[in-house]
Amino acid sequence: MAASVPALPPGVLSLHVLPAEHHDRDWDAIIVPAAVKERLLGQALLTLKHGRKLAQLAGLPHGLVVLAGPPGTGKTTLARGLAQVAALALARDGATTLVEINPHAFPSDMLGESQRNIMRLLQDTIPEIAARRPFTVVLIDEVESFAVRRSTASFDTNPVDVHRATDAVMLGIDEVARKLPAVLFVTTTNFIEAIDEAFLSRADLVMHFALPDQATIARILDASLAELAVQWPGLRPLLKSTGEIAEIAALCGGWNGRQVRKLVLAALAQRLEVARNPALLSFDDLREAARKRGGVEWAGAAAPSSKELFPDVPRELMHDHDHGHDHERS
Ligand SMILES: Nc1ncnc2c1ncn2[C@@H]1O[C@H](COP(=O)(O)OP(=O)(O)O)[C@@H](O)[C@H]1O
Ligand SMILES: [Mg+2]
Repeated sequence: MAASVPALPPGVLSLHVLPAEHHDRDWDAIIVPAAVKERLLGQALLTLKHGRKLAQLAGLPHGLVVLAGPPGTGKTTLARGLAQVAALALARDGATTLVEINPHAFPSDMLGESQRNIMRLLQDTIPEIAARRPFTVVLIDEVESFAVRRSTASFDTNPVDVHRATDAVMLGIDEVARKLPAVLFVTTTNFIEAIDEAFLSRADLVMHFALPDQATIARILDASLAELAVQWPGLRPLLKSTGEIAEIAALCGGWNGRQVRKLVLAALAQRLEVARNPALLSFDDLREAARKRGGVEWAGAAAPSSKELFPDVPRELMHDHDHGHDHERS
């Protein structure tokens, strides 16, 4: 549940107290080899539970995990899910705060004001939040957006200064991670090439996410259809057709996990009958949507008019279209 704080500090996207009821789904939604989840959870527990003791050892640990890979491969979702499962594992020892940082919240270039705000967030805000509960997970999503601004900084800016500013932020994250050894920092990046080498080399774990292979795509499709079948039990028979699911998975080579999930939605929108009653979804709809890569096309014959499509909507269901506008204007 979101804590009812009057206003979140700048750059903080959300604060959650975990474990919480509806947070279970993220971890389960992402289909990756079991070893990936086990390694992530192991790393999280090690930092959260034993970070302070381990900090006594020479150079270990930083409490910093990097999830790297192409967009849509489940990094953000799994990072959130990780906070929840770690919180479940630790629940008897106390609650966990999940702090989500939004690097996009710092506008303009990396220099001056923007950089000072980031440093304030790292050096004041995060330690203050971490003091509230026994366990804290800080999620810095798309951490490369700090770094990417190097290349987009204006030509007037001395590139050396931009580099220095970016490095300062990376090192700031690294420093706060070191100062708070029991706080777990999970960062994600869609673009690992943009990330500072020094930063990466200090991470306790860099987990690389790949695009799903065909077997994984089939499992994502199966899981998506199973979710639909909870709402529309008429779809249950589709789940038995593993051959056809595999055949559709073969049409989705090179897609990311998000695109595969969206395919099922696109399939539901292929025919109006199905959009009205999703229980009518067929493998032909899925194939058709896969063939179009989930996109929408109106090619060939002219599209029917709205009256032709919906001839039988009774007059009394029609709203006066001027209504809302009058109110909004005043
Ligand atoms: N391996 C996967 N298994 C199942 N669903 C996935 C997978 N990867 C991505 N998805 C779907 O795509 C959505 C977006 O994933 P997200 O975590 O935002 O990816 P990223 O942060 O890597 O861009 C997820 O909510 C999930 O529905
Ligand atoms: Mg993401």
